[in-house]
Amino acid sequence: MSNECYVYIMLPGKLNFVTAGKFQLSTDRNAVPTGRFVYGKSYLERKDAVPLDPVELTLQKETFRTAALKGVFGALRDASPDYWGRRVIEKHAGKPQLSELDYLLESPDDRAGALGFGLNNTPPAPRKEFNKTIALPQLQTLVDTIVNDEDAAIGAANPQIQDLLLLGTSMGGARPKAVVEDDGGLWIAKFNRTDDAWNSARVEHAMLVLARKCGIETAESRVERVADRDVLLVKRFDREKTRDGYQRARMVSALTLLRAQDTYGDRDKWSYVALVEEMRRISAQPAKDAPELFRRMCFNALISNTDDHPRNHAVIARSKDWRLSPTYDLTPTTPVSIERRDLALIAGNRGRYAHAENLLSESARFLLNPEAARSIMDEMEKQVRATWRDIARSQGVSAQDCDRISDAFAYPGFRFPIP
Ligand SMILES: Nc1ncnc2c1ncn2[C@@H]1O[C@H](COP(=O)(O)OP(=O)(O)OP(=O)(O)O)[C@@H](O)[C@H]1O
Ligand SMILES: [Mg+2]
Repeated sequence: MSNECYVYIMLPGKLNFVTAGKFQLSTDRNAVPTGRFVYGKSYLERKDAVPLDPVELTLQKETFRTAALKGVFGALRDASPDYWGRRVIEKHAGKPQLSELDYLLESPDDRAGALGFGLNNTPPAPRKEFNKTIALPQLQTLVDTIVNDEDAAIGAANPQIQDLLLLGTSMGGARPKAVVEDDGGLWIAKFNRTDDAWNSARVEHAMLVLARKCGIETAESRVERVADRDVLLVKRFDREKTRDGYQRARMVSALTLLRAQDTYGDRDKWSYVALVEEMRRISAQPAKDAPELFRRMCFNALISNTDDHPRNHAVIARSKDWRLSPTYDLTPTTPVSIERRDLALIAGNRGRYAHAENLLSESARFLLNPEAARSIMDEMEKQVRATWRDIARSQGVSAQDCDRISDAFAYPGFRFPIP
């Protein structure tokens, strides 16, 4: 079996796609997939050609091959829908599972980054129409239907099945979301689920505000009240609105930078220490991005954001240069243990342990001397302890929800004496 598609890219400063190359996915007799990618000759001849990602698919004539990630190169996988987007596509198609190539081709042109996919050598015009913020109530209702898995309600003959297209998104992540537009530009709308333990929209927004107070560059966000529900809107930092359309920044996740998979077996490669090494190699401003990553690692430890997996970190290129992206997807958790909490990524010479001394142990790699690293971390800890509740309350998190999340902040194990 063999399948292929064209890969398009919107070059920096441009408003239309050009064809960058061809992706081919084949499986052998034992169902082992192999992906191949080759840049088009005319693309390589362009003076303004840029590679699809900063580590793997460098500009060259030869065909790239991969057997990892079900044959889907990291840069393409990052442009493909994830758990939520796939679920909507499957519901709409009425099929339980599609091929990796189908997910790329069936998903709408709102994906993170600057890539597009299609069957024609000539690229299509970029998508111009998006859901407006005014449609949020309708989108929230559709989200509830999908989350509750009311199959009966969205049988094939039901008009709602068409409405599902409104929710279709190529953006990654597991939480219910859609892309919406207002006069300011494009936003990711993240919806609350009725089974959430607290008001996630308000709490995530408050965490972004708290992170900013801790000196971290974050995505812009706001909360919209929709009927009696809250929806988080996070401004897309990979799109730049112009009078004639949206420019797109390339974007790849830390998973791609680390050449890692999303599987448990590959967790050895999930590491802030390895990530900062890659970052220093590819960033146009390592002296800013390396210490910034240190701050984010500390912040995640200080709010018990143990869901800081490699797809929750990214680099973007608005021009030909790559930089660390603004931070996004910050969620506190409240594990029972007060002694030891683990980040998703290795943070120092004691592994994933969210502990002050562990976070400081590799500070030189983050381009910080031990004193500077310690003072940044101590400052952030003070800030989090002293202000998290006031910030959360001022951003509309209820007193009850503050109590629910309070164990997340500067948990005791962060400073436990290490034997
Ligand atoms: N402000 C933004 N601008 C551009 N892309 C973004 C932005 N925020 C998130 N993304 C992209 O969208 C993806 C999904 O967003 P996010 O991580 O917030 O969703 P999630 O469903 O909470 O994720 P998870 O499955 O990690 O819980 C991210 O992995 C990232 O690729
Ligand atoms: Mg995420």
